[in-house]
Amino acid sequence: MSVEQHEVQDILTQYDQDRDNLIPLLQDVQERLHYLSPQALSAVAEHLQLSENDVFGVATFYAQFRFTPPGLHHIKVCEGTACHVRGSSRILDTITRTTGIEPGQTSEDGLFSLERVACFGSCALAPVVVVDDKVYGRMTSAKTQRLIEEKK
Ligand code: FES
Repeated sequence: MSVEQHEVQDILTQYDQDRDNLIPLLQDVQERLHYLSPQALSAVAEHLQLSENDVFGVATFYAQFRFTPPGLHHIKVCEGTACHVRGSSRILDTITRTTGIEPGQTSEDGLFSLERVACFGSCALAPVVVVDDKVYGRMTSAKTQRLIEEKK
């Protein structure tokens, strides 16, 4: 059994075989693995006695779940109201142009992954970008581009 399988099994033992546990279970698996692998989805389905299609269908419905491993640098762009009003969509476009990835994807070289997030709770700093858990406030497209170049 791989380390990943062990970790998933460890999480599964903490949950009863109750369908209502699906979302919390997926959240726990993602927190541990940083994404939902096909093997993890299948183990969750088996544990809750659901079909893999049902589990995958539910997981893809929620933007919070990722299906590819995160990159070396994980970029989160806030799309909450304050950040949206101050141009977060332009920042997101810049990141996609510079790295070649859309939200939910990881670049082919494994360097960057991108995620769209609702409010970080730092609205006074809008628009906000978080890279590897470090918060960058009052971002512009130019500052974002420089930040990405520095991380390459
Ligand atoms: S809306 Fe972006 S931090 Fe609150």
